[in-house]
Amino acid sequence: MSQRVGVEGKWALVTGASSGFGVEFATLLAEQRANLILVARRREPMEELAERLRRKDGVQIVVFAMDLSTPDAATALKGRTDAQDLAVDVLINNAGYGLYGDFVAQPLARVMNMLRLNILSLTELTHLYACDMAQRGSGHILLTASLLGFQGVPGYAAYAASKAFVLHFGEALHAELGPRGVAVTVLAPGAATTSFGDVAGQTDKGTLQKLMMSPRAVAEIGMRALLRRRSSVVAGWRNGFIVFLNRFTPRALQRRIFQRVMAGEV
Ligand SMILES: NC(=O)c1ccc[n+]([C@@H]2O[C@H](COP(=O)([O-])OP(=O)(O)OC[C@H]3O[C@@H](n4cnc5c(N)ncnc54)[C@H](OP(=O)(O)O)[C@@H]3O)[C@@H](O)[C@H]2O)c1
Repeated sequence: MSQRVGVEGKWALVTGASSGFGVEFATLLAEQRANLILVARRREPMEELAERLRRKDGVQIVVFAMDLSTPDAATALKGRTDAQDLAVDVLINNAGYGLYGDFVAQPLARVMNMLRLNILSLTELTHLYACDMAQRGSGHILLTASLLGFQGVPGYAAYAASKAFVLHFGEALHAELGPRGVAVTVLAPGAATTSFGDVAGQTDKGTLQKLMMSPRAVAEIGMRALLRRRSSVVAGWRNGFIVFLNRFTPRALQRRIFQRVMAGEV
């Protein structure tokens, strides 16, 4: 990234930092000389990433291995960063996963766990850290939503709805917190080559395979938008065009198209 902005020496917290976009966000922030707090369940990949970035960029990195889908996780994380006097200036709220398939065939416990992570934990973390940022009059918050959050998506019913929450929540916060010095940006990626599809149980990818972006490219688009204080950004021109076309397409048709694409039928 060409842009140098004021994150040097500041603390950035990245959730979902053990794989996919989270690794790329952490890498980009370290390149900008931000210190990092990495959070996800798997410790080992985060320790390896931390070691690599410490050596390469000379930044300080703290790793917290924790499950953010549990009810007290966000408060516990805030307690841990406060206990170490880590003032978080950049919050990358990125941890999340999807569940693909018929809603009624999905185990309810998994659906609820996903919603706790994608919605509740993200909201709590945003509240806890945004309060501090608003008080200081500065800060950056990025929320990872999805292209699927722009319409109902059969096969991804609960997941797409969780990302619609993230999209609307973040855009509203952008307006509320902007005047208080805190930039809030929603990143809406389309399909990307991370472990998302495998975790979601989506096997037939069809056209999606051709639309896949690299996680690095997606993270760069997100970081650029965040640092330019944009309200939201759709990653990639193809995905942006799809969102644009939605304006002129009946909602029933949008749902049908997304259903077929997700099923790998086109
Ligand atoms: N890739 C895509 O096609 C795509 C498209 C649109 C939006 N997104 C969104 O992008 C975000 C990142 O996903 P990704 O594509 O990078 O997938 P990924 O490679 O599977 O990464 C997901 C990250 O979330 C973490 N995570 C999952 N459950 C967690 C939990 N209970 N507590 C703490 N951390 C947890 C995972 O770490 P652990 O397993 O170690 O906990 C991992 O670091 C998600 O919000 C996803 O919905 C992805």
